[in-house]
Order: sequence, then structure tokens, then C-alpha cells
Amino acid sequence: MQSSDKKEIEQLVSELNDHSYRYHVLDTPVIADAEYDKLFRRLQELEAKTGYILPSSPTQRVGAPPLEKFDKVRHVEPMLSLDNAFSHDEVREFDQRIKKFLKSDAEIEYTVEPKYDGLAMELSYRKGKLHHASTRGDGVEGEDVTRNIRTIKAIPLTIENDASVPEEIDLRGEVYIDIEEFENLNREREKAGEAAFANPRNAAAGSVRQLDSAITAGRKLHMACYGVGAVKGMEFKSQKHLMEWLGQARFPVPLGFKTAKGIEQVIAVIQKIETERSRLPFEADGAVIKVNDFALQRQLGIKTREPRWAIAYKFPAHQGVTVIEDIIASVGRTGAITPVAIMKPVRIGGVTVSRSTLHNWDEIERKDIRIGDTVIIERAGDVIPHVVSVMTDNRSGSERRFPRPSTCPVCGSHVAREEGEVAFRCVGLNCEAQVLEKIIHYASRGAMDIEHLGEKNVELLYSNGLVKHFSDLYRIKKEQLLGLPRFAEKSAQNLIDAVEKSKRTTLARFLFALGILHVGEFAAKQLAKHFKDLQDLYQVAPERIMEIKQMGEKLAASISEFFSEKGNLLTFEALGELGVIVENPDYEAPGAKQAGILDNKTFVITGTLSQPRELFEQLIEKHGGRATGSVSKKTSYVLAGEEAGSKLEKAKTLGVKILSESEFMELIKE
Ligand code: IVH
Repeated sequence: MQSSDKKEIEQLVSELNDHSYRYHVLDTPVIADAEYDKLFRRLQELEAKTGYILPSSPTQRVGAPPLEKFDKVRHVEPMLSLDNAFSHDEVREFDQRIKKFLKSDAEIEYTVEPKYDGLAMELSYRKGKLHHASTRGDGVEGEDVTRNIRTIKAIPLTIENDASVPEEIDLRGEVYIDIEEFENLNREREKAGEAAFANPRNAAAGSVRQLDSAITAGRKLHMACYGVGAVKGMEFKSQKHLMEWLGQARFPVPLGFKTAKGIEQVIAVIQKIETERSRLPFEADGAVIKVNDFALQRQLGIKTREPRWAIAYKFPAHQGVTVIEDIIASVGRTGAITPVAIMKPVRIGGVTVSRSTLHNWDEIERKDIRIGDTVIIERAGDVIPHVVSVMTDNRSGSERRFPRPSTCPVCGSHVAREEGEVAFRCVGLNCEAQVLEKIIHYASRGAMDIEHLGEKNVELLYSNGLVKHFSDLYRIKKEQLLGLPRFAEKSAQNLIDAVEKSKRTTLARFLFALGILHVGEFAAKQLAKHFKDLQDLYQVAPERIMEIKQMGEKLAASISEFFSEKGNLLTFEALGELGVIVENPDYEAPGAKQAGILDNKTFVITGTLSQPRELFEQLIEKHGGRATGSVSKKTSYVLAGEEAGSKLEKAKTLGVKILSESEFMELIKE
């Protein structure tokens, strides 16, 4: 290896870790993400070339195949839990107990930190390197979640910097997820028809306890380190000393850590945290108070499972009691139907709450929520309020159940619910709640490809009432456009011409353009191969679709639902009358098809190839294969061009066969 490469690698690792620390721990990045990615790719390239990989390299955070189960790990020192205090007086009593135990009236120095609502974690470093990470488990034995914990960017893989590095050290802290991330995650899950996490703690725990670390890596977890277990080769004098060392060694520490002399100062600090609580980016359910001096801590010792030297002051829960006056079904932009409770307004934690999502009908039934019920509502931090439970003792007998929807409350089309999914969806093509999103997709490049009709223009037409239905697109007059902002003679004519031009299309494109749930470009192509024309799909039975290779139950149900909605079929007739012509050059009459050399093979294309990617996708499909977006164990081949990045890495770790462009050409030549 050239010494210049070695030097550059070391320089890059140090530089990248520095940026990562600024971004993930200090929250003050100094370079743009794209710049970081560029340096990262350069490092990957050099590591691949030389095989020289530092343990602290940021490339070493992801990329192991999923586990079958977690191994067990014994904690060298048990991980304890905390006693709780629910009032300021109980905090004072804690101070009294300590003084009594020590037989001294001298003021004690305490530390105060927020209590993070997440999952306790132990990080074990050996000779400065992260050796393993484990959950608390029963306090004596936890689960080995090292691979998942390595994906958390705020956690150093090695202890470096100017800090003195102990021979062995077990650090403790809380893995958590910021409220904003938690909400994003739940939104995505609801969109995908998955059950939402009830609170940030469940989200953090669920994300850490994933057998596939790639899932954890996608979750944006964070950590705050607040304690130490076994340690060799160093001695900490106090909690404050530990915090200082952690800070120097670039570990994330609890926000707003403070020392306080005497219990009254402690109470002033916890009051301050409490007033700032709703502005914190994470969920804090209390404050943890610890005796600062470690010698005193040892003297105080442990009573069964909790130390005598610490206590958790719990903030009053953000809960309130109110009555559900009504439940409505709300239809989202993607067609997902969500039940929403309309409540008698109630103030919780300084905010008036009058609506709460009930998530889905499974949840309503599980909690047995009825219209007229008295319920306990919780609003944790900035988290959207939710119903904790029903006070069934308050029932009068006049409460009403809210049935599952059979038709869409907005457009009256029927609703579908798939196997294994909790969400109901409206299948109406012209459903007002969805039509805007649908038309944006319909006009887009891979779909009907209507030039000059991007998102902005669709929104403009929609908000001015020019298009309420798909068919309205073909009824627009130039004069109408001229009345809108952004449109002049030429641009109006361009749009009219583009709409006209797009009228002649293929069945495959048209089917994709309809935005039927689960029907992507590939599925649309497959359908076009097997169905002669659009009418051939009317009232189609799911079984007939499932005869097509690679078409599963979900997809078949979704297509069948869509083509049995009468309103949708009427829309097709209207489109035909307006001049939309759907041809099907892809149709393969039964018996005519020859077996392709790539039948059943899936490909992922990555990096830069000598020709546009679409060309390779077409070649793959022509030979019976299929190109997909992300690498998994099931991927047959990865076709890797120049400067291939994370997908190539993933393929390598999963043992997926990698083809260069020339190898690929060779394969299809055979
Ligand atoms: S100290 C022996 N500090 O709360 C002391 N714990 O209810 C052990 N927690 O198991 C914990 N924030 O998971 C400590 N700043 C903090 C904390 C904290 C959250 C968790 C931790 C612990 C649980 C006890």
C-alpha cells in the first residue's frame, strides 16, 4: 500500500468523524450533506483499493446480514433501575433519607439530568474500541445488539481525541428517538398500513431490537450517555467528572446536565426542566437526581435493585379526561381512511385538544372506543394526542360503536383492505381527497408523460377548478388557461398540445398512470402482457391475475378491487370518448411466449454505466428478468457500474452475485 493512500485514509476518517460529531452530537454541522457524501465515497474507494480499514471508519457502521436471534450478554456490573418520586416533597424525602443514612446534616451535592424516555443501553469498550453493546434485559443479562448500535452515528466506534482512554469501560445511557423523527416514522408507517408506535420509547425499543441492522440504520436513533459500569485503568471521582470525560471523548451527554448544592437547588433545576419540557426535541418523562460524589455513592450503596444515591422525579403525565362527541372517517391523500375522534375540548399541558387520531379500526376495537365514551387522553411532549383508555365505568348504555367503513366517506367508492394491513383504502379514481395526488402521478414522466403538466401546474388547474376529475384534463380550453397566472399564449398552447399528444398511449403506461395501489411500472407491464386491452380487465377476478408469474395476492386483490369499482369503469369510458386511445403492443397471446434466459431473476442496477440505465432495464425485462430498487437476500444479481456505492457494499455483505457491464452482456448473449 502506498503511504500516501494510508495517510489520506487516516485523514479522511478523522475528518469524516469530526463532521459526524458536529452534526449528530453538537448539532452544528459545518459542511453540506453532499460534501460529506463525497468524502465518504472517496474513503470507500480507497478502502476498497487498499483493504486498509480503520476500526473507527464511518464505513464500518452498517452492512451485516440479518441475524436469526440476539445472543445473550452478561453485564459485568448489574444495570440497576431507579426509585421514583412524584412530588417535590418526595424529592425532599429522598434527601432526608440520604442524610439519615449518612448520619450527617451536611448539604449534599447532587446532579440533575433529564430522564430520557427510551431504552437503557450498555456500551462496552475494550482498548478504546466499541466491543459490544447490550440492552438492559433483566439487569443481569441483556441482548447483544452491537450491530444495530453501530449504526447510531452519535456513538463513537472508538474512544479517541485528547481524552485518556481506559483499558476497559462499560458506559451506560439511553437510546432514544427525537419527537420529530418519531412522528415522521409513524406517518410513514400509517401510510404503509403498518401499526403506529404508541410512543417514542416503543419506537426506540422496536428500532433497536431489529434482527436486520439495515432497518435500525434507517431510523435516526440517538443516545445520551449518563453512567458508567465496570471500568479498568481509570477512576472517575464524580458524576460531573464522568460527564466531563464523556464530553471530551465526544460522547453525547444529557442535555442541560447541572450540579446543585442542596435539595432546594435541585428542585429549582427540575422546575426549570419541567417548564422547558415541551420545547425539548426529545421526550423527557422526568429528571434524574444523583449524588455527585462517587465515594459517597459507594457508601450509600444499593437496596435490592435501586441505588440509594439516585432517584427519578417523574413529571406529571400529560393526560386529561374528556368525552368523545363523535368519530369521523378521514380520507388521506393516498386514500388511507383513518378514524378521528372529535372530543369535548380539554386542556392538556397548556394546549387545547379537541381531535385525536384513533389510528385504525383494529385500535378502536382493541380499546373498545365508542361515541359518547369518557376517555383518558394523553399528549406526551409534542406528540399528537391519543386515547390511552376508555373509562368504562362512566358508560350509560347510550354509547355507539363506530363501524368499519364499507364505502369511502368522501366519494362513496368501495374500500379495500389488504391481507395483513390495518388500513382501509378508498379505491375511487376520482375521489376528491386523492384526485390531486393521482392526477400529478398520472401526468408524470413514467406515466402518461404529459409535458408541461408538473406538480405546480396540476395544483394550479385543480385549485382554479379546471380539473376535478381525470377526464377534465382533456376538456381544458386554451382560453381557460389564459386566465390563470403563469400562463401566456405560448405556454397555454404548449400545454394543450402536450395533452393532445399524450392521448395515444400504451396499456402498460396507462395502467401505471392510474396509480392503483401496488401497481408499479413492472406490474403494469406484466399486466399488459397478459391482458389484451383495458376492457379485458373489467371485473377481473383476483385468481386470474395470480396466474401471472410474480403477481401475489395483495396485488391481485388491489387490481380486482379497482376494476370492480363502477365509477372507475365509467371514467375509462369517458376518457375514450374524449379521444384517449390505449393500445397494447406488449400483449403476448397465450402460448406465444418463449422462456427468457433471465426468467425469475431480479436485478439491482447501481453506479454509472456506459448507457442510460433504462436501456439495461429494458434488456433485463426483455429476457424475462426484473429490475428492482433495493438489494436484499433475494436479489439475484447486482449490475454494478463505475462509482457504485452503498448498494454494491450491501450486495457484497449479503453475498449477492455482482456483475460488471461486460459480464452482464456476456450473460444475455448466451
Ligand atoms: S441513571 C442506577 N440517568 O430510566 C442508575 N437513567 O427508570 C441507573 N433513564 O433504567 C440509571 N434517563 O433507562 C439514569 N439521565 C438518566 C436517565 C436514566 C433515562 C432511564 C434508564 C433507567 C430508567 C429507570
